Amino acid sequence: MLSNRRNWLRQMGLGALSISASRLNVFAEKPSPYAFHKLSSGENLIRLRSNENPYGPSPMARVAMNEHVNTSNRYNWDLYPELIDAIARKNNLTPGYILLGAGSTEVLDLTSRLAALNKGSFVMSLPTYPFWSATLENLGLKKISVPLTADKKNDLPAMLNAIQPDTQLVYLCNPNNPTGTICKHDELVHFIQEASKKAWVLVDEAYIDFTSEQSLSHLVSENKKLVIARTFSKIYGLAGARVGYAMANPDTIELLSRMQSWPNGGISVVSAAAALASLKDEAFVKQTYTLNQEARSFTIEQMELLHIPCIPSHTNFIYFSLVNHQQDFFAQLKQHNILGTDIYEKQGKWSRITVGTISEMQKLINAIDTAHA
Ligand SMILES: Cc1ncc(COP(=O)(O)O)c(C=O)c1O
Repeated sequence: MLSNRRNWLRQMGLGALSISASRLNVFAEKPSPYAFHKLSSGENLIRLRSNENPYGPSPMARVAMNEHVNTSNRYNWDLYPELIDAIARKNNLTPGYILLGAGSTEVLDLTSRLAALNKGSFVMSLPTYPFWSATLENLGLKKISVPLTADKKNDLPAMLNAIQPDTQLVYLCNPNNPTGTICKHDELVHFIQEASKKAWVLVDEAYIDFTSEQSLSHLVSENKKLVIARTFSKIYGLAGARVGYAMANPDTIELLSRMQSWPNGGISVVSAAAALASLKDEAFVKQTYTLNQEARSFTIEQMELLHIPCIPSHTNFIYFSLVNHQQDFFAQLKQHNILGTDIYEKQGKWSRITVGTISEMQKLINAIDTAHA
């Protein structure tokens, strides 16, 4: 993984640049989990690592992408407002509440950099989705990690207690990655009211479309300290297209957009067209939702029969404990050409697996069921 990163840096001509030691340390300590695996059709790799949609892009998105390839020589000024408008309507907001990013990663990054204009600390759960926090640490902010509850949920009261006078940002992933748990809506509303009196609150709703929960988007008109990050990478199946967006009060959107050299301009024409078409393809979203639920129930049921306890999931991934598993789980995956993740919590040997298609999940179960081997 690390050597991939080094090769990439070398290819980008960055190897010769004087990257600060702290940045290199970040690479050394936290190699990206998104190791690059070839997608050639002959490979037969079952990718259950990055919570991608195994069915997407949607049919309508594929058509739109093809159509826009031929106009990729142009800056398409019209497409971005159209996409912003469609996103705003979907969320019962107006366009001033939306900012586009190259994946929700860019939104997490912009919000981090906005918060880091003042030095101090930031608060996040442990474990949660961390691939924005290095920016804050590199900008000199101190991380405050708050353990999850025993049932693997974000511990909202403990997170509130953890906020210090110098805390600049509180990050909440709901549903949480890697655990797949959600917080109750009224408890979340109270948490945001309290936390935003003291710091920026960044709520990551990457997986909200896999739940029947309400987004917190209705809070942004009243609350200028709240930023909600959303993505087209998950239920819309556009991870490689890199489209995400922020929802926030227009005053906050203005502050965030000042951190972008070209506000809303980081998305390719092809990707913007795909996102726009995806919003219209409701049948595809419904189908993904249902197929994910079926494959998820099947997997949890089968894993529990194999004495692998699972946390009830509200997402397209499952968090499970390998504490009773006698075999080397990761060797079993490797042997069957399945790409999983790692151990997130040593105590209890908790790991995560993405919900793929039902046939992929059947192969996963066969791989870990010794009776089958
Ligand atoms: C919770 C969470 N937030 C954000 C992201 C990044 O998504 P994007 O592809 O939109 O940058 C991911 C990706 O897996 C994620 O799990």
